[in-house]
Amino acid sequence: MTPSWPLPETDPWSTPFAKILMHHLKLQPGDTVLDIAAGGGIPAFHMAEQVGDQGSVLAVDIHQGQVLRSRSIQGKHMPWLQFEVGDMRFLPLTLPQFDRITGNLSFMFFRPNRFEALTSLIKFLKPGGQIVLTFPSLGTFDSLWNCVDEEMKRGNYTRERKALAEYIEERPSATQANQWLKELGLEQVEVTEWPLEIHTGPGLNFLEHPLLRGGFLDDIYECFEDQDLASEFMCELSQDIERFTPLFAQRCAMSGFLPVQK
Ligand SMILES: C[S@@+](CC[C@H](N)C(=O)[O-])C[C@H]1O[C@@H](n2cnc3c(N)ncnc32)[C@H](O)[C@@H]1O
Repeated sequence: MTPSWPLPETDPWSTPFAKILMHHLKLQPGDTVLDIAAGGGIPAFHMAEQVGDQGSVLAVDIHQGQVLRSRSIQGKHMPWLQFEVGDMRFLPLTLPQFDRITGNLSFMFFRPNRFEALTSLIKFLKPGGQIVLTFPSLGTFDSLWNCVDEEMKRGNYTRERKALAEYIEERPSATQANQWLKELGLEQVEVTEWPLEIHTGPGLNFLEHPLLRGGFLDDIYECFEDQDLASEFMCELSQDIERFTPLFAQRCAMSGFLPVQK
């Protein structure tokens, strides 16, 4: 049977991450799922179809606009799927425990204390339950960061270079995810990384690239106090994309099971 709510093939960012999430996730009909950073419902709709009406999916996102949009896509379909506004780092203690906790493209937003946020989240997992989170891990777009760093060094942008180093240092890594899941007592821990090539052309094609601009290039602009200078710097960089292409993101999935006996 063809699923009615497949992962959309047209989404070049969320879907490749959701695919590795689904690869790790052991989902059964009747499971209860908490999906954090649910956004537009990739992969919440897909999972709701898998668990069926004997299960449930609670999909939480911090932005009301996202929740309203997802509800309007849902309409009256699959009433066991519920979209709610909430901050995944501070979920209400009244929430029940779930068979599965998922979060596609979520872990990078567990700031400022990712370990603390992960610890709180795992409290909502049933004994024997599984958590699977995906995120672009350290290593994502390294060729770009290296090139930006070289250019900053060449242009004597000392403060901006320091800000860039701090930004890169703050990115979550696969090694750290692995260590934290084990520290929290999870079993069958698996942390995998799968490269994803992002294609871009020079100039505006790079500067306005829908995947790069919002999530990543803005972070370079933020290293500059003077935004005119940032634009000039980025414009120059955008003319010579051969210096940092091919451009790879690292799709990281972290997965673990809470022991049945605590
Ligand atoms: C990159 S999108 C991923 C959405 C969806 N899971 C997907 O794969 O398309 C990240 C989502 O995380 C949400 N988000 C960021 N910080 C959050 C937080 N603290 N609590 C809940 N959601 C958060 C954003 O609103 C955004 O919708």
